[in-house]
Amino acid sequence: MNPLSANPQVATHQLRCVHCGKVQETADRMFRCSECAELLEVIYPEWATAQPGFALRLKEIWQERRGSPLAENASGVWRFRELLPPVDRQHMVTMSEGNTPLVPLKKATRTLRLPQLLVKHQGMNPTGSFKDTGISAAITMAKAEGFSWVCCASTGNTSASVAAYAARAGMKSIVLLPAGQVAGGKLAQALEYGAHVLQLRTDFDGCMKILHEVVRRFPAYLLNSLNPYRLEGQKTVAFELMEQLEWKLPDHVIVPGGNLGNASALGKGFSELRDLGLIKSLPKISIIQATGANPLVRSMRENGGEKLIRVNAETRATAIRIGNPASWRKAVGVLRNTGGACEEVSEKEIALAKAELGAEGIGCEPASAATLAGLKKLTATGCVKATETVVLVLTGHMLKDVDYMKQAPGQSLLGPMEPDGDTVIRTLEQIYARP
Ligand code: F0G
Repeated sequence: MNPLSANPQVATHQLRCVHCGKVQETADRMFRCSECAELLEVIYPEWATAQPGFALRLKEIWQERRGSPLAENASGVWRFRELLPPVDRQHMVTMSEGNTPLVPLKKATRTLRLPQLLVKHQGMNPTGSFKDTGISAAITMAKAEGFSWVCCASTGNTSASVAAYAARAGMKSIVLLPAGQVAGGKLAQALEYGAHVLQLRTDFDGCMKILHEVVRRFPAYLLNSLNPYRLEGQKTVAFELMEQLEWKLPDHVIVPGGNLGNASALGKGFSELRDLGLIKSLPKISIIQATGANPLVRSMRENGGEKLIRVNAETRATAIRIGNPASWRKAVGVLRNTGGACEEVSEKEIALAKAELGAEGIGCEPASAATLAGLKKLTATGCVKATETVVLVLTGHMLKDVDYMKQAPGQSLLGPMEPDGDTVIRTLEQIYARP
């Protein structure tokens, strides 16, 4: 019996290679295609035979779960479980991830002359970044498979999330970080949650290389986004966003690009909604990289995305300091399917965009601000039109990287000064007199 026809509880799944298309039931611990060693994606063959009305019923079910105290309904990931691999409730590792705000920008909407510009603030997740949705899904699979150790390489946010979710699950975590290149807030989180933090004298790409060896030689479950279950959790942002927009499709969604898992997950989420008939078309999904860490931009520009051009990455937006992104092929697919653009922004443009968001009361990390910087370019080139609704995905919380702020221009930090009323009032009068 098709489980979807009677009771939309279960979605059986398979793994399909994104390159050669080979379908397999299970994966090895590196989550690579057994034929060509490319990345895998989760597919749900059952959906093709689901009864008409199945998808419409989902909308109601998801809506009903809102406000439910049950952990699997309170989660912004597992609330959408009909479109996720089936898992036993006892294995679910969740902290009400997702459920993040969608906030309209006012000043930027006016300056860019757009009808509607919104930010989906994924920095409001339990550990302050979008990673939590993906880690909840993937660590749940690890628990179901009986692992007691998990591991990742990270520019910081993945490590914070892995450490926290492992602690919740009663598992042990290993994180490999590029020594001296991780923002202080993120490192503090990994330590607080009890991860074994190994700082390696290399960059993120070097850490990924060593992680392969760790997974081969140590019984730890890999939680980087080349694990296809990560993307299953992260794709739910598309579902949640559509609910928040009352199923009115935005024209354009913009994400920062690092290892390119997030752009891939977002594209997958929207494609699945379209295939199920819940939306009629796809929004354009655009990916923004820092100029100093632009392997996808270069690959799209120089060979149409046929081959990855690796770069030696350098940017102060350390979250996206990645030169050899694992999910580049998936991301190219998203750009092609949705007609989105791939753009790069300078360090200056990122800093300015971050300050502009801050001036609207929206704090985020530098990598997230790349989306606004990118949007400015996309409106200038006509890729985003003056009639279009745009959503920027802000990926991380401002407090992750406070050191970045110390070098930001235009801040009003005065003193130290004498603690007397006259001094303070004189200073305030000078500020008040400014134009
Ligand atoms: N924004 C933030 C705040 C991130 O932490 C990351 C990635 C990205 C954007 C890029 O997302 O890799 O899916 O393209 N951080 C990873 C980490 C690499 O280890 O925390 P992506």
